[in-house]
Amino acid sequence: MTTNPELPEIQIDFHTSPVSDADRAQALETPGFGKIFTDHMVLARWTPDKGWHDAKVTPRRPLSIDPASAVLHYAQEIFEGMKAYKTADGRVLLFRPEENARRFAQSALRMAMPPVPEELFIKAVEALVRVDKAWIPSGDASLYLRPFMFANEAFLGVRPAQEYVFCIIASPAGSYFKGGSKAVSVWVETEFTRAASGGTGAAKCGGNYAASLVAQSEAAKRECDQVVFLDAAEHRWVEELGGMNVFFVMQDGSMVTPPLGGTILPGITRASVIALAEERGIRVEQRLYSFDEWKADAASGKLKEAFACGTAAVLAGIGLVRHAGGEFKIGDGQTGALTAELRKQLVGLQQGASNDQHGWTHSIAV
Ligand code: PLP
Ligand code: COI
Repeated sequence: MTTNPELPEIQIDFHTSPVSDADRAQALETPGFGKIFTDHMVLARWTPDKGWHDAKVTPRRPLSIDPASAVLHYAQEIFEGMKAYKTADGRVLLFRPEENARRFAQSALRMAMPPVPEELFIKAVEALVRVDKAWIPSGDASLYLRPFMFANEAFLGVRPAQEYVFCIIASPAGSYFKGGSKAVSVWVETEFTRAASGGTGAAKCGGNYAASLVAQSEAAKRECDQVVFLDAAEHRWVEELGGMNVFFVMQDGSMVTPPLGGTILPGITRASVIALAEERGIRVEQRLYSFDEWKADAASGKLKEAFACGTAAVLAGIGLVRHAGGEFKIGDGQTGALTAELRKQLVGLQQGASNDQHGWTHSIAV
């Protein structure tokens, strides 16, 4: 990437009373997911006359916004999810951050927002990780980074806002699921859908998640970890989970995953899994897969494994599927062998334990 002289410099404003070493060490022992936060955050602003400006790493604090701020009314908001890892030999790595930067820009365009230049996005992530480096857990946990952007013009007319805030917060994170690396259960939602053709399904916008919550609550009522969405037109084709993409491993050794047709999120983990699987000689079909086919394949033994994948979840085997008509297990209900191998390979790359032939890891000088 070349350095663009038009980009704002990122100012650093250090916290004067950060969390003590002892309290931070305690928080890092069992971080969970999304519950604890670091000392700093990134903030930058966009206005039509200045573009992106006033970019800084600053002490984390509540944001003050006008009650008429457009985001509160019309939900013009997008976000990203990525992780920083501390390697066993003390390096700090991001995983394919340029893909997050690109997707963030694409989400912005879909939501009629001004894209954050990809170079600024990466520089801002790096600056926050550097300042909060003491918060990066070691071992299997990582520092989850949540860049987001929202419309912040105090105006109630319905049109793209004229002011935006870009922010990044960071949160030490262990496993997304309470059961750790145990296989998860899913609820197949046949009433509510997540995204329709021409809608915002491929953008990582908050509204997609708001629309998914009633179905996620249905899943929780049935003691399932995640919801599986079917397509909006026929309620027939498997699309993705509330916060993850989905893969199926067949008896003949091939894999199937729903295609990117504009209604599902183009996951960076999904793309990485496809590449790793194909390098192993596995045929990966990106094709429509119906819930009826899923049920039949699980019953006949044609389906060997299924897994969810995403930044927060990494790879999680799907053991049990519940639906309005009953439930079924996949294989013996445990994480399958190929799922476990792919997970190990991906985590090895992300944590810098294995040789990165793809150029996927991005080292931060801390
Ligand atoms: N699908 C949805 C709805 C998600 O929220 C996520 C998580 O970010 C994914 C898929 C997986 O995307 P990625 O692998 O880029 O994290
Ligand atoms: C991520 O994996 O980064 C997400 O945004 C998904 C969500 C379930 C936390």
